Order: sequence, then structure tokens, then C-alpha cells
Amino acid sequence: MTSTLFPTGLSTEREDSRERVLRPGVIRQGRKERWHGDLSRKMRRGFGGVLSSDLAMDLGTANTLIAAKGRGVVLNEPSLVAYHRDTGRPIASGIEAREIFGRTPANIAVIRPLKSGVISDFTHASAMIRSFLKKAMNRFHLLKPRVVIGVPSGITQVEKRAVIDAAHCAGVRQVKLVEEPMAAALGAGLPVSEPVGSMIVDIGGGTTEVAILCLGGTVYSRSIRVAGDEMDEAIQRYLRRHFGLEIGLSEAERLKREIGSAYPETHPNTGDQLIRTSGRNIRTGLPQQANVSEEVIRDALAEPILAIIDSVNTALEQSNPEIAHDIMTRGVYLAGGGALTRGLTERLHHDTRLAFHRADDPLTCVVRGVSQVMEELPTHANLCIT
Ligand SMILES: Nc1ncnc2c1ncn2[C@@H]1O[C@H](COP(=O)(O)OP(=O)(O)OP(=O)(O)O)[C@@H](O)[C@H]1O
Ligand SMILES: [Mg+2]
Repeated sequence: MTSTLFPTGLSTEREDSRERVLRPGVIRQGRKERWHGDLSRKMRRGFGGVLSSDLAMDLGTANTLIAAKGRGVVLNEPSLVAYHRDTGRPIASGIEAREIFGRTPANIAVIRPLKSGVISDFTHASAMIRSFLKKAMNRFHLLKPRVVIGVPSGITQVEKRAVIDAAHCAGVRQVKLVEEPMAAALGAGLPVSEPVGSMIVDIGGGTTEVAILCLGGTVYSRSIRVAGDEMDEAIQRYLRRHFGLEIGLSEAERLKREIGSAYPETHPNTGDQLIRTSGRNIRTGLPQQANVSEEVIRDALAEPILAIIDSVNTALEQSNPEIAHDIMTRGVYLAGGGALTRGLTERLHHDTRLAFHRADDPLTCVVRGVSQVMEELPTHANLCIT
């Protein structure tokens, strides 16, 4: 059965933005040195990172990214683990776990070991980290890696301990932590160490973090548990409530990415876009297809978008006049996958009268920022948290 929900346009295919994140690595070779004295130290220093095992990690609720010293982003995979329910033994992680998601027999479970940016399942989180590190390290790596990891701001000591212990269990030699808003701001190219206020909004899968940074420190930060996942659930709830159509979460995410928006766009020739979806009719229990319009998805996203705007407004209200002046002048930067929501910068501008800018490649912003800290650890040591 096919029905049309607001049949006022044409559906189009859009490029999947997450697919193009992995970039070919650039191997940077340092000055040639004569090898004598401490060979391993010379080897590590002389090759400027080829042999070095320093890594930067954005351990996210939805995606984990790893950058290697001198090689850029080397891993970008969903934060998923598949394991045997009977033995607890992990059988796949990342992309492989996503491939079997929803198609597993009863004795295999696929889970996300992180919730709201923090580890919720220690055993499987460290198994996932171990498998990602193995993929990220090249065959030249002789040493256990040293890793700088991005963690949510306001993380508790117990939650920090869990990240550090999980990394050690996964074979990491040394761990340093940096707050994600700070990393996102560095990745977006904001002057976080200068005496000027910078505001960043990182909209991830589990949380939206709003932060104001100045002189290498955090002036304000707040995290809400409304982000990409909540948007998917809002679409699922909306279609069920208004159209009696039950769809899966991954289908809701697809609708969000393909036609989700926070502000109406004008399509002078085509009108509102339509997209075909399918699920289960909750009255008959039978499979059903439907065409969903951009307007329906925008309506469905209204609540989570409003929660994000409220958290931005709260941050603005808390800032002192000097910082408010800096933000007025320079605008606010958006990072994280949620920043790709169409019309979001326009909607935020409409509601706050401030300029909003989407950071370049927002999905890799945090790992690129963590990578800057890792590459220049002595200079950026003050940005790490304890
Ligand atoms: N084009 C897009 N439009 C809207 N949302 C998108 C788009 N691409 C990805 N997303 C969303 O971005 C979210 C993932 O973003 P990101 O990888 O920054 O999260 P994360 O870092 O894993 O999570 P967190 O920071 O909360 O721990 C997902 O909810 C995904 O649906
Ligand atoms: Mg994130």
C-alpha cells in the first residue's frame, strides 16, 4: 500500500555526507638524521610520525574517529560492537558491526558501548577501542600508542577513569584527555588561546555541547542530551502519532539526513521535496509505503531543534558584555554531524539575530582539534584536562 503525506513535490537523491569523511593520509617525513645513540628515539623523531604511535581519538556516541600523527584521519567508523550474548565475546566492531545490525540471530547483539558521549558498557567499549586501534595503527608501529582522547565537557571523575581504563585495557601506553568543545573549536580554526571569546556548538549523536572559550580555558559550557539521536526518535514518534506508520530508527535517520531541515527553503520550481519511506501500519500490522514531505520532517524535528536553540540562548544570556561583544562580532560556530542539518544556521540566525557558521567538515572537527593537541602536546598541554 502506498500513501502520500503532503504530496507537494518531487523526491531527489542526496549524497551521503558521512561517506566522504575519510581522507587519504598525507605522510609527512621529517629531516633525515644519522642513526647513532638511542636508536628507537632517533627513529621516532627522525621519521616525524611514521614510526611514532601518537594518535588522536574522537570517541563519540555515534562515530569514532582516529587521526595518526602525520597521517591525518585514518579511521572513521560507527561506535558499534557485535558480541555473542552467551559468552560476551566480541565478534565485530564499527562498519562490520553496522553491516550485521538488525540481521543478527538471537544469540548475537549489536550495541553502542557509549551513551551521551560517555562509556556505558566498559567491556565492550574497550573491545571496540582495541579493534579500532589495531585498524588505525600501521605495520610500522613498534610501540604501544600514546593517545589523546576527546571527552564531553563536564564529564565526572568516574567517567574519565572509565575512558582512561578502557584505553589502557585496549593496549594504550599513555592517555591524555581534552574536552570536546575545546577540540571542536580548535578543529574549526577558532583562536581559543587568544584573549577573545569564541562560541562553539557541537551537535553530535547523543549530546549537544554549547561552550564559550577564551584564553585556552572554558568560560561556559553546557551539555544537553538532545542531538542527532533525539532527532531520529522525534521523526519516528511523529510518523507513528500522525500517520500510524511505524518506521525503524535507521530509516528515521535516513529521512533526517535526506530531507530534514530546520528552516523552510524556497524551491521556486519544484516545491517541497518528497521522499519514499516504508514501515509498518500500526493499525493493520501490515507493511506500508508512504511519501513523506520536507514539511512533515521539519515539523517532526521542531522540538529537538527548539531545545538546541534554547541551550544556545541560555549560553548567550550567561556571557559577560566583553564576551557577548566578541560573539556578536565573530559569530557562533557549529560542529558535529547535527551541524549538517539543512537550514540550521539560518534558523539559529533567525531566532537569535547572531551570525552562525558551519565549521568545515563538521563530522571531523573534533578529531582534527584533538589531533592538533596531540601534534603539539608541549604547547597545548594546558588544554588537556586531568
Ligand atoms: N547530513 C546530515 N544531516 C543531519 N544530521 C546528520 C547528517 N549527517 C550526520 N548526521 C547526524 O550526526 C550525528 C553524528 O554526529 P557525530 O559523529 O558528530 O556524533 P558523535 O560525536 O558520535 O556523538 P557525541 O558527540 O554526541 O558523542 C548522527 O545523529 C547523524 O544522524
Ligand atoms: Mg562528538
